[in-house]
Amino acid sequence: MKARRDIFLKIVAVVCLLCAVAATASAKRRNINYDESKVPNYTLPNPLVCNDGTKVTTVEQWEKQRRSEILQMLSKEIYGETPEARLKTKCKVVAENRNALGGKATAQQVMFTFSRKGKKHQALALVYYPNNRQGRVPVFVGYNFKGNHCVTADEWVLYSPYFDRLEERNHKLLQRGTQIERWPVELIIERGYAVVTMCYHDIYPDIVPRKAKPSDEMRLSNLLPVTDDEGCRWQAIGVWAYGLSRMADWVVKQPWADKDKLCVIGHSRQGKAALWAGAQDERFRVVISNNSGCGGAALSKRVIGENVEFITRQFPHWFCRNFTKYSKREHALPFDQHFLLALVAPRHLYVASATADRWADPKGEYLATYHSSPVFELYGMKAVSSKQMPKVGEDVQNDVGSHIREGKHAILEYDWRRYLDFCDKVFKR
Ligand code: GCU
Repeated sequence: MKARRDIFLKIVAVVCLLCAVAATASAKRRNINYDESKVPNYTLPNPLVCNDGTKVTTVEQWEKQRRSEILQMLSKEIYGETPEARLKTKCKVVAENRNALGGKATAQQVMFTFSRKGKKHQALALVYYPNNRQGRVPVFVGYNFKGNHCVTADEWVLYSPYFDRLEERNHKLLQRGTQIERWPVELIIERGYAVVTMCYHDIYPDIVPRKAKPSDEMRLSNLLPVTDDEGCRWQAIGVWAYGLSRMADWVVKQPWADKDKLCVIGHSRQGKAALWAGAQDERFRVVISNNSGCGGAALSKRVIGENVEFITRQFPHWFCRNFTKYSKREHALPFDQHFLLALVAPRHLYVASATADRWADPKGEYLATYHSSPVFELYGMKAVSSKQMPKVGEDVQNDVGSHIREGKHAILEYDWRRYLDFCDKVFKR
């Protein structure tokens, strides 16, 4: 009893701390550049020139040499190294509703129990797949921010383990359906897709370690060895990306899922993780970044909106430590985020922004997409060919997609509709 109360008090303290951090963050945001005329001159490194200066002109050279050079560079300098050691994973359907959404879907809750060397870690997925289907269906895999119970108001949904620790059962954090607008599940089902989501806190609690130190046991990475080089140790984004791949491990075994039609999707910080997951795990055929900004789809070298100094200070638990070397030194980065996007080729990438989300630098997100194009084109794909952003409300739906929506930082039904159209096109549905 006492232990549970302690945990509860800790979580409340953390929430207060997060609010305080948010307040400081907004104060610091005042020193951020939003003026396009103050963007420094910058030169983007070429994704198609190898570290030894060789130009990549064939798919073979890209796949044999350059792709892995870029993966290594990003592991070492920004996201940290993903361990190769394997976890044991047991997945158990702990609840099922074959009549969800008025009979349109089967919903399941799946408990993932990861184990290695005597340690265990649990995370809970919420799954919806269409009942009315011919054959296997494509699947969206992505995290939610506030627990599975934020996706729907349905009382049947169990609390994600991270939130289930709260003793006070009518706590604000346990309110249901608080992020329903981000998850148009019925639309996704009606369009013939499945969706699998999990709370990212279950995999690595997103707690700023300034004062509250989350216990190691709460992180999936606690089960895995870390690299000796402290500068390239993975942190939250690396572990979240890894968690997305563990969700994919389960999805590909399901009789209703088309393992060749997996899409990974993420909003904002979860978009950063989705991109890194999509870069590493080639099972994801479509990789979707929604307003992922700095450290996601946006170019860092433009130093407009959120920058490396801000992000590594405010969220020291997201990237590997080496990334802080580029605080106020974006010009020294040996890569930029177009390298990350290029790793998705020859699969399909979609990068979306919102007009009022200047913090995430919509133009920088678009330019990174544009500058990743040569790698998609090496495969004969039609990427994003114009340096001009699409008009607000008009989307680019080539082999690579992009749109800029009117409005603020969010993932809305409008965005999902664009993603569904894009996936229909990619999967020829
Ligand atoms: C903060 C952070 C961003 C992040 C965003 C989010 O604004 O600075 O980098 O993308 O939170 O995840 O909502």
